[in-house]
Amino acid sequence: MSNLPALTPQVFSILSALIEDRLGLFFGPDYLDLVAEKLGPRVVERGFESMLDYYYFLRYDPAAEEELRAVADLLTVNETYFFRELTPLEALIGEFVAPLAATGKRVRVWCAACSTGEEPITLASLLEERGLLEQVEIVASDVSSRALAVANRGVYSGRSLRAIASPPSWLVDQGGHQLVSERLRRAVDWRLVNLLDDDAVGALGVFDAIVCRNVLIYFRDETTTRVLGRLHRALTPEGRLLVGVSESLIRLGTAFQCEERRGAFFYRKSP
Ligand SMILES: C[S@@+](CC[C@H](N)C(=O)[O-])C[C@H]1O[C@@H](n2cnc3c(N)ncnc32)[C@H](O)[C@@H]1O
Repeated sequence: MSNLPALTPQVFSILSALIEDRLGLFFGPDYLDLVAEKLGPRVVERGFESMLDYYYFLRYDPAAEEELRAVADLLTVNETYFFRELTPLEALIGEFVAPLAATGKRVRVWCAACSTGEEPITLASLLEERGLLEQVEIVASDVSSRALAVANRGVYSGRSLRAIASPPSWLVDQGGHQLVSERLRRAVDWRLVNLLDDDAVGALGVFDAIVCRNVLIYFRDETTTRVLGRLHRALTPEGRLLVGVSESLIRLGTAFQCEERRGAFFYRKSP
């Protein structure tokens, strides 16, 4: 730690504000040491003399966009696992996706903030089980290219598998690691998307369902409201939004209304 550049409260204040503005992630004063620890080695590696120089680079340099990707990789929490918060996913399929697919429509589902891919692969496996995979287009995105690289490889072990008692047929044992079947991996369209980037979100088109779980917890209310505005625009009029079980939008007074189905809470556009 001693060889890493110092992060003063003043520089932390402007650096964390910039990070929140670009990535949404909020780091209050208690996180100064954590941010210094995570970014310090990168600052040294890139040859910057101080955290302030690094801040100026991120703020003003034309190449900052690319460097922000590295910052996202270093500061995001990519915790996720297969079959996490399963009941709401099953309810989403049973209540909305399956009935829509039964009308012959090709259903579009977006897993925003998919991390290393366990969530969209879980979704794909549930759809496969119900014979619906071919009728559903799954787009999965995250701001972390490192997380998406894991998703693209499709090789998992340890904590990713913690909710799996006996490996399903779509996981192939590779001596300690599990490889997700090519069929499920190919069923997902993986994209690098920052939820704060209007153009990138808009380019994905509109969806019948959006699964955006366990990411809003890293944002302050103002950022969450901004992101929800983008998700609102990305939903069809009858579309449904699913957030994490510990996340509630009610107190934010957004343009969504909440409804309960099969013990899970969904958000739809207010009439
Ligand atoms: C804790 S994981 C949640 C993964 C999965 N949705 C789940 O519930 O298991 C949070 C993810 O949000 C992503 N994230 C954070 N800020 C983001 C942003 N501005 N745009 C897109 N993704 C973001 C992180 O990279 C991380 O992979």
